[in-house]
Amino acid sequence: MCLFTINQEKCKRDGICVKDCPAQVIVQEGKRAFPRPTEDAEEFCIGCGHCVAICPHDAFNLSTMSVAECPPIQISLLPGPEAVRHLLESRRSIRQFREKTVPRNLLAELIDTARYAPTASNKQQVHWTVIEHPARMRRLAEMVIDFMKQMLPALTDERMARSVGRIATAWDQGKDRVLRGAPNLILVHSPADLPFAETDCVTALAYLELYAYAHGLGTCWAGYFTAAAKFHSPLTEILELPPGHQCYGAALIGYPKYRYKRIPRRREAVVTWIQA
Ligand SMILES: Cc1cc2nc3c(=O)[nH]c(=O)nc-3n(C[C@H](O)[C@H](O)[C@H](O)COP(=O)(O)O)c2cc1C
Repeated sequence: MCLFTINQEKCKRDGICVKDCPAQVIVQEGKRAFPRPTEDAEEFCIGCGHCVAICPHDAFNLSTMSVAECPPIQISLLPGPEAVRHLLESRRSIRQFREKTVPRNLLAELIDTARYAPTASNKQQVHWTVIEHPARMRRLAEMVIDFMKQMLPALTDERMARSVGRIATAWDQGKDRVLRGAPNLILVHSPADLPFAETDCVTALAYLELYAYAHGLGTCWAGYFTAAAKFHSPLTEILELPPGHQCYGAALIGYPKYRYKRIPRRREAVVTWIQA
């Protein structure tokens, strides 16, 4: 099957698709010709759909993605910079949750939206695992604590050792500082041999976190959990990730018990401007 077809009645031969294709697999021989795929187009097309999305005349259809499958962008729905900035600055890590679980359809919507995060070469190999059950959450937290206790004697960084020690002690005193009694945990994982697997996963989880906040949900990255998922084989096994996958991030998610009223200060950005 041909990689793409051009609706010749609609195409104005403006060459926009040719210029925009990141893989340069569309050519146009002269202003009167219609765009066509290069000989190696099948091999190098990354399936990003930019050609379909950028054509102002709805003339471009990929074999995998028709115009009809790509909804129009509604400018009126886009938030202004002030709203986006306030969203980004006011998002906080939430560590105290109400007991209410997040409906599965809402979690599914968050994940569905995070699919639109960029991925290197448009690989779209970010996978998700959602922990929904309180007993399972507790078991996972317990396994992270087991890992921490095992690691403690080997930790050379004194501050890290004290910090891990405090979390383990808190657990023994009945306080979960790993999964914080959150109702749900969302993991991102990807084939470990994929270039940029970690970046793709982390970016997608950041998208999810921001969209969750827009829904009034609270999230907190679970770094200790992620480290244990990587290095503590009993935990890695219980997660039942597909063969060859690695967990690159996880976030607690639930309804916040309290709302933040102010935006805490952050360090100034350290920037080097290179002019010449
Ligand atoms: C990769 C990563 C791992 C994190 N791991 C943990 C964690 O294990 N436990 C925790 O309470 N917070 C964790 N956090 C949350 C940070 O502590 C938090 O982002 C930081 O203190 C700034 O607070 P804010 O997110 O409210 O701006 C993590 C954040 C990131 C980005």
